[in-house]
Amino acid sequence: MRDLSKSFSLNGQRLEVLRGLNLSVKGGEALAIVGPSGCGKTTLLRVLAGLEQPDRGEVRIDGAPVQGIGSQRAVIFQEPRLLPWLTVLQNVAFGLEVRGLDRDGAQDKARHYIRLVGLAGFEDAYPRQLSGGMAQRVGIARALTVQPEILLLDEPLGALDAMTKLTMQEELARIWREEGVTMILVTHDLEEAIHLADRVLVLAKENAAPPRLIDVDLPRPRDRSAPDFVAMRRRLMAEFGLH
Ligand SMILES: Nc1ncnc2c1ncn2[C@@H]1O[C@H](COP(=O)(O)OP(=O)(O)OP(=O)(O)O)[C@@H](O)[C@H]1O
Ligand SMILES: [Mg+2]
Repeated sequence: MRDLSKSFSLNGQRLEVLRGLNLSVKGGEALAIVGPSGCGKTTLLRVLAGLEQPDRGEVRIDGAPVQGIGSQRAVIFQEPRLLPWLTVLQNVAFGLEVRGLDRDGAQDKARHYIRLVGLAGFEDAYPRQLSGGMAQRVGIARALTVQPEILLLDEPLGALDAMTKLTMQEELARIWREEGVTMILVTHDLEEAIHLADRVLVLAKENAAPPRLIDVDLPRPRDRSAPDFVAMRRRLMAEFGLH
């Protein structure tokens, strides 16, 4: 991300959301983005996805400028947005079929990722027959099936209950490790950021403070109750004036 800037106009007023953001993310890295509501997390993710154009600056992947959406990036939103008339297997295979893979090939690959997210046995279920956490797993499987190099996640676990969320955080950590993808994760949950990320990007509302980058230098798998984890949480909370 080089000198990324983005403004919106709202009721005749110009709202500057991103101001000259510079950041390099390494292949295979897990970056979390945190900040108060309205600070521009989704906007940044949409720019990275190619769904939104920056006013200034650019995003490059391996040196090539990002222009629109591309198959090396997959986005996972807060709600899984499954097609209700398709089964789990068909939902996951859909993206591959759209890309021209034959049905058998697509479904073979889809089965692999359905297993990976722990949903083996639910291939023939319809979205209405799934819990919220299961539906979100289908969304994750669908994104992984196209084998993106970069996974962009916008509060993927935000709508889940506390218990399911913890389980899914473990799943995401495992999937990230096993698939070797680059993960850029927007989250409200500071503990989730520390649990998953190599670095945390802290954005302030209306550019009240410059973006800050915090290294999460903790061994994996991470233990939420370990003293250094707790200390990191305290440090991140202090970024927001919380204790
Ligand atoms: N298309 C748009 N037109 C006008 N303003 C927009 C548009 N999209 C976003 N904004 C404004 O940009 C600011 C940042 O929005 P964004 O959705 O990126 O915030 P966020 O950090 O993701 O917030 P949240 O944590 O609540 O999801 C907000 O003030 C929002 O009103
Ligand atoms: Mg948002």
